[in-house]
Parts: sequence; structure tokens; C-alpha cells
Amino acid sequence: MRLTIGVDIGGTKVAAGVVDPDGRILGDVVRYPTPRNDSEALADVIGRVVVELRERSTDHDIAAVGVGIAGFVDEDRARIVLAANLGLSDDPITERIRRRVDLPVVVENDANAAAWAEARFGAGRGSDHVVLVTLGTGVGGGIVMDGRLQRGRYGVAAEVGHYRVVRHGRRCGCGNNGCWEQYASGRALVAEAQDLATTDPVRAAHLLKLADGDISRIRGPEITQAALEGDEGALECFRAVGEWVGLGMADLAAILDPECFVVGGGVSDAGDILLAPARASFDKHVTGRATRRLADIRTAELGSQAGIVGAADLART
Ligand code: BGC
Ligand code: NA
Ligand code: ZN
Repeated sequence: MRLTIGVDIGGTKVAAGVVDPDGRILGDVVRYPTPRNDSEALADVIGRVVVELRERSTDHDIAAVGVGIAGFVDEDRARIVLAANLGLSDDPITERIRRRVDLPVVVENDANAAAWAEARFGAGRGSDHVVLVTLGTGVGGGIVMDGRLQRGRYGVAAEVGHYRVVRHGRRCGCGNNGCWEQYASGRALVAEAQDLATTDPVRAAHLLKLADGDISRIRGPEITQAALEGDEGALECFRAVGEWVGLGMADLAAILDPECFVVGGGVSDAGDILLAPARASFDKHVTGRATRRLADIRTAELGSQAGIVGAADLART
């Protein structure tokens, strides 16, 4: 059996696992916090997880390592062009990883990797036209058209998080403002909740309780938990973010006309609490809605494992 390792580097954590040719993760996923602003430290962590996973699976043959990174990756898949949420730009990351890992290494954008996994093994299985949107620290995108992952000419197609939805809007780490990820990401959800707790502590009482009364400790998982418990304040935050998610997907449908959207990332752990307002907003905004055939909007099936599985699979193919 040809196994590969997939490493997913997100804005907050590095997660890695050993993946088989059917897209299944064998054994446990290894996790570390993501070092920021330091690509040598990041490459060290990648080197470490690869050693750990190889030691753990001595009887298996690991053929290659795939790494999905939360940032723009160039067309040769050699450099990070820009990874605002990791604090890196113009960095020869692939070479740094190769110095630490004595196996073939393939680097890909994290959301592209997740899209590939969901299209092959997850919620987009059986469809050749899949657009994945991942809502984590940032907003990532991956486009599979005619069964092929679209990278564009310079490697950075599907940077949907930086497509600008508001003029003179919130500042973004990419240097622009008004980017979709400032309204539809996990960070945006936290900003909504903290804003609610500041302006309307009564409505945010449950959220505040889950964060031990400390506004700065309200994080995504607390908001999701509160929403799942039916808390009105948390639900309101999800409605606000969900509306932006649907609006962005409506614009993507106008451009790409996929068969389905797959929504992944930490924010999508809330399931229909996020997707119901997102679908309603999509239906309200999408062009030609009265007469066109519309993409359906699905929750990612591979959840937080999609990046690992996709990176590992891309290293194999
Ligand atoms: C980055 C993307 C990445 C996404 C999700 C964005 O801010 O520009 O490259 O895919 O976050 O991690
Ligand atoms: Na992408
Ligand atoms: Zn941006």
C-alpha cells in the first residue's frame, strides 16, 4: 500500500496524518500550534511531525509528503508568495522543508488541498465541478472544474478570501480592505461576538459565561457551543457571518457555475446554524435565480481532516 503524509498548516494549528490511497487517515492526527512570522520554525515543525508519523508507522512505507499551507503558493509550488495569517511572504518554504524531510515533498495551498480531498473523497464526490470554501482563521477557496484543480497561471487562483466585497471595508492582512475573509471567517465570527458582548452584554450573557466573563477569551468554539445550545446572541453572530458567506458564494456562482459548493473549516462545525442563513442569503443574491439551475451547498464531509487528506493525495498523484 502506498501511503503518504499530509500536513495541513492553518493560521492557528499544524495538523498531520498518514493517509492511504482511499483518502483514509491511518492512526491519530498529530497537532502543534503554528509558529508565526518564522518560516524556519515552521519548517522545523513540519520536519518534526514527519519524523513522528514515520516512527509511528515503521511497518508502512511512506512514499511522499504533501503540505497544504494557508497562503498563496506560486506556480512552481516552491515559494509562499503571501501568507498574511502566518506572517510570511516571498519565502522559499519548499526548499526549507526538503532540507528537513528526506522524502519527495509537494506544497499546495491549504484550501486547494481541501477542495481536492472533498471532490475526490468527500461531499463533492461524483461531481466534476466543485467549489470549496473553507472558513477558518481566513477564508480559503479551491476550484475543481472538469475534475481538475484550477491553479491559474501563477498558482494563486481561488484566493476567494481576498475578493473584495465592501468598498472601504475592514482592513485585511493582504494589504487591501473589504476582503470577504474579514466578514466570513472564524475571525469575523469572533469579532461579531466580541462586538455584541461589548455593546449588549445582556444579550451576550451566555457567551460571556463560556469565556469566564472575559471578552477577549470569546473564541470560535465557544460561539459554536453557545449557538448549538440555542443561545440567541451566538445565533445572531452566525446569522451575520452566514449572510456574508451566502453573498460571496452567489458571486462565485455567477463566475464559476459549479455543481456544488462545499463549506468547510472550523466555522462550518456549526452545520446548519451557519448553512441555513448562508443558503438563504445565496438564494436571495444569486443572479438568474428564478430560472437557472443552482449549485447546492453542502457541509464538508472530511471536516478538519480535508487539508491533510488532500495534501497527502496531491503528493501521491
Ligand atoms: C489565504 C489563503 C488560505 C486561506 C485559508 C487566506 O487568508 O490567503 O491562501 O487558503 O486564508 O487558510
Ligand atoms: Na486556494
Ligand atoms: Zn485580503
